[in-house]
Amino acid sequence: MDAKRQSGHSLQFAIITTVTITLFLFVTLFVVLVAAQQPAEPLTGNWVVRTPNADGTFRTTYLNLKQEGPRITGSIRVTQFFYLITESSGGPEAFTITAAMRDGKTDRKVQYEVTLAGDALHVSTRRRPTDKPTEMVAVRAPAGEGALPPRNPLPALHKVPDNGLARTPPMGWNSWNNFASRVDDATVRSIADAMASNGMKDAGYQYVNIDDTWEAGRDANGNIQTNKKFPDMKALADYVHRKGLKLGIYSSPGPNTCAGYEGTYGHEEQDARTYAAWGIDYLKYDWCGARTLYTDEEMPAVYQIMGDALLKTKRPIVYSLCQYGRLDVWEWGADVGGNLWRTTGDIRDAWDSMTRIGFSQDELAQWARPGHWNDPDMLEIGNGGMTETEYKTHMSLWAMLAAPLLAGNDLRSMTSEVLAILTNREVIAVDQDKDGKQGKQVWKSGDLEIWTRSLSGGARAVALFNRAADPAKLALHWADLGISEKAHLRDLWLHQNIEWPGPEYSVTIPRHGVIMLRVSQ
Ligand code: GLA
Repeated sequence: MDAKRQSGHSLQFAIITTVTITLFLFVTLFVVLVAAQQPAEPLTGNWVVRTPNADGTFRTTYLNLKQEGPRITGSIRVTQFFYLITESSGGPEAFTITAAMRDGKTDRKVQYEVTLAGDALHVSTRRRPTDKPTEMVAVRAPAGEGALPPRNPLPALHKVPDNGLARTPPMGWNSWNNFASRVDDATVRSIADAMASNGMKDAGYQYVNIDDTWEAGRDANGNIQTNKKFPDMKALADYVHRKGLKLGIYSSPGPNTCAGYEGTYGHEEQDARTYAAWGIDYLKYDWCGARTLYTDEEMPAVYQIMGDALLKTKRPIVYSLCQYGRLDVWEWGADVGGNLWRTTGDIRDAWDSMTRIGFSQDELAQWARPGHWNDPDMLEIGNGGMTETEYKTHMSLWAMLAAPLLAGNDLRSMTSEVLAILTNREVIAVDQDKDGKQGKQVWKSGDLEIWTRSLSGGARAVALFNRAADPAKLALHWADLGISEKAHLRDLWLHQNIEWPGPEYSVTIPRHGVIMLRVSQ
């Protein structure tokens, strides 16, 4: 009887235990499933904002966020920039996050306010605290989308053979200063029409250069595509060539260009081949997005890849390095195949910007030579931010510097005065002098400066600059410049010979003006 009762108890116990364990397992499974449905850290994930550009491409911002309680970490990638999140505050569903450039060296930060709203993330940002915020909506993106590609190994340095081009500084036009992202096929054709018919081509202008924003993505084989502003690049090149002109294009060694478009990273030879097949004659290669993967010290190797790739196409393509003069590019630009290299940050159509750049080039003179030029950036002549006198100073200074003359204005609608400045053949002749010796400052007193440039055949260009806001008198003593009575003197803006004025040449230079002379024996 006792044994029977005992076995009945064990059975009861076993049933209760089984039910309890099963219940426990169900509850645990339920909790796990519910938790999986509703993550405790709802901002965690990869988010993307896609803002359409007018050309069918998108400007993207990726926010790769990791939420841990009241803290957000992760990264933000916007156009060419890659930032790491350094601070966050707020929560649980609305945060202010601050992110700094990944290299930690560049003093550039962004701040975003992010708020979870259903399946989306509302993102608000402003450049300066006083700006109106830009409001955007981010949606979830697949993990990994927008992540930086792995860093490709860099080649050992070697000397890229000279391509034999640009024996004098390149002359032409570039779309960026005036058109920025508004450049398209029709604009380029009409600019080429203007250049071919308004006297510029005859004066030596040759390259019609498309800057950033022509790019779309890549096809399945990795071939770079044009966006809908440029339906047929080959046809455009043919058109420009039929005008007796040449076509230039732009890219970046990074994954993205400065304006956030598709860069060349990892497709260097392929893109060079594409450019050659299209009939491109000039490439401006702009560092920008490359800084997310490489340091400044690695610039020579990065630029060498494209230098080699262009040569390999066998098409003559002028190679223009654009990395704002970092790492003393004048010392190695020619070795990586560069025909010209930017020496400074971007020019603006303003007296301060133009003079800050132009008058600071003195020490670079020794690096300019046929085939290899310092590039103080494109011309702003005719863009409206300076006076005619100031634009003459701009043109004169660039000619003294043996700088590339790439007009940056709308050639279809400029005034005759602006055209006359751009096509002053006597000033252009100084710029294009075959010896390719860059001018130097030889005298300075306050806002007055005298620059000279040696020209072929023993001649010299002499430019008297007045950087002051008022007209200024200057007495030039010829003897100080080693110029004797026998010299032949010509004023390159008045287009007049000057009678020998005696040992001293007294002139009044207008505010922000220049007097430019050619002195020959
Ligand atoms: C940089 C360059 C400019 C221009 C823009 C285009 O700022 O320095 O000359 O090419 O990129 O995005």
